[in-house]
Amino acid sequence: MSSHQPAPSTSNQAWGGRYSEGPSAIMQAINASIGFDRKLWRQDIRGSLAHAAMLKHVGIISADDEAAIRDGLNQIAAEIEAGEFTFSEALEDIHMNVEARLTERIGEAGKRLHTGRSRNDQVALDMRLWVRDAIDGIDGQIADLMRALVDRADEHAATVMPGFTHLQPAQPTTLGHHLLAYVEMLGRDRARLADCRARMNESPLGAAALCGTGFPIDRHMTAAALGFDQPMRNSLDAVASRDFSLEFLSTATICGTHLSRFAEEIVLWTNPYFGFVKLSDAFTTGSSIMPQKRNPDAAELVRAKVGRIAGALVGLMTVMKGLPLTYGKDMQEDKEGLFDATEALALGLAATAGMVRDMQPDGARLKAAAGAGFSTATDLADWLVRELRLPFRDAHHVTGRLVAKADAKGIDLSGLSLEEMQAEEPRIHNGIYSVLTVEASVASRTSYGGTAPVNVRRMAGEWRERLK
Ligand code: ARG
Repeated sequence: MSSHQPAPSTSNQAWGGRYSEGPSAIMQAINASIGFDRKLWRQDIRGSLAHAAMLKHVGIISADDEAAIRDGLNQIAAEIEAGEFTFSEALEDIHMNVEARLTERIGEAGKRLHTGRSRNDQVALDMRLWVRDAIDGIDGQIADLMRALVDRADEHAATVMPGFTHLQPAQPTTLGHHLLAYVEMLGRDRARLADCRARMNESPLGAAALCGTGFPIDRHMTAAALGFDQPMRNSLDAVASRDFSLEFLSTATICGTHLSRFAEEIVLWTNPYFGFVKLSDAFTTGSSIMPQKRNPDAAELVRAKVGRIAGALVGLMTVMKGLPLTYGKDMQEDKEGLFDATEALALGLAATAGMVRDMQPDGARLKAAAGAGFSTATDLADWLVRELRLPFRDAHHVTGRLVAKADAKGIDLSGLSLEEMQAEEPRIHNGIYSVLTVEASVASRTSYGGTAPVNVRRMAGEWRERLK
């Protein structure tokens, strides 16, 4: 494509008055957003319906014109829905594609729709409506994932597994407690979404190009009709701001990070060296060359999806930084990353919920791993404090020497004889063996928020109520 070759169309109908020639093909290619902003068609038509109803209400357009506009827009919606609408790159974006088709269908009245409005407040409105819907969809999906986690947590409230720090065996915990940790994270993600939604729920419509309008429009009416709490207070802010998208993307990135951490755990847990859980054929793939393989592809992709989501956040931040007020065409670049990130998060949430419901924990394996690595050493030290009144620091040292002794012999702490223990601390008696099992270890941790199965069951119950 040569740079000064004209695009197939000639003068643009939206600003044709000032222009005698059409854009170069390259101009049209870089300028057009219809390839991706057609996704906004529902929001665009919804906004136009509300705008037209308001124009009629305040007497700017006649009732007949409004009726024609309404019918025309509804027919266009049906055309797009049915895949019968021809989108045109020459018409640049969704706003002009819909308006041009409207005028084609209903004539004169279609040209009155844009009174007291600009594409600048129109696109800001469409994006707010889209993000608001996206928030609601994502929120519902997070709630679904949380329900899946809560069910499995309740089921496995007493299934012991190793708790890790530094990915080294630390203390025994339960699978239920572990899963509920993610429920807490996801609960905060929902709270962040709710905050974001509440803050963004103001209407930019009627800010017009940037300064408002001299027409006697009723911004409160359109705001209410579109489900907003109120119109935005400043017209410049209304057309220039995209922090609602940034806030949604930040929240999406945090949520994606949570999913990514869990996905990484599934990758580890399904590795035969761990063998903690199995995923069925539904969530694994085989290898075309190695017949024994069962690859956790879904988990790996969930682990990776956050790359796109965080990328969209950084991308939009970079577009918006340094942009002078108010609207700049730069802001047209706010869409693709946002759409892509939303899709990635939605897919990640669905796949994670699927894996949570699918995974089969191996209780025996988990229990054996939970007891390995001297994981009850803290319980032993705590026993020395409780029973023998040793200061914790001294108890830690005694326990350390016992771990070294067991390690040297290649046995567990419970494999040490009483004599071997007493060589380090003469007052140790038989009672010590009762705290060295993993079951005793987890059952003892009844402090609020602790790992004990009774806690886990209670918390799962509380979450189930909250998620109803
Ligand atoms: N397609 C544009 C966008 O997405 C719509 C607003 C265009 N406004 C303008 N004055 N060119 O941002």
